Amino acid sequence: MAEKFIVTWQSSYSVGIKLIDEQHMELIKLTNKLFASCMEGKSKNIFLDTIHEAVDYVGYHFGTEEKVMERINYPDYASHKKEHADFVREVFSKVEEFKAGKILAPLSFVYYLKDWVLHHIAVCDKKMGAYLIAMKRSGALQQVTLEVKKDDDNNRMHIR
Ligand SMILES: [Fe+2]
Repeated sequence: MAEKFIVTWQSSYSVGIKLIDEQHMELIKLTNKLFASCMEGKSKNIFLDTIHEAVDYVGYHFGTEEKVMERINYPDYASHKKEHADFVREVFSKVEEFKAGKILAPLSFVYYLKDWVLHHIAVCDKKMGAYLIAMKRSGALQQVTLEVKKDDDNNRMHIR
């Protein structure tokens, strides 16, 4: 039987921030959903719907990370945010190519997504997590509560 999952969550992926880890788990779930739609030979439209779902969630997740970075005055905020923006631009251009019937094969897109997410978690997000933890240990961040409430009406996030 063909593999059902392209990636499974491992504790080594944890960046030490529960809120961010939970969102990364959701991203992995969506990557697997895209993978499954490839394996099952779903139609182009179903694949595109799933891509849009993933892209929406990626936007929401990046927004959370950026708010966290702002909240803790993270020194690498600008470069981290740029990585997010470059990725979103790249994904959008791949989706457009796909819609236009050009080069992109669904499976190669899923592999691209998986590789980017895992690499980004392993490098950038872990660095951010380590910084936050170090600040907490030093006592500089005692008062911070990270909490995201997704407001159904306007998708706003609140980070205290
Ligand atoms: Fe990130």
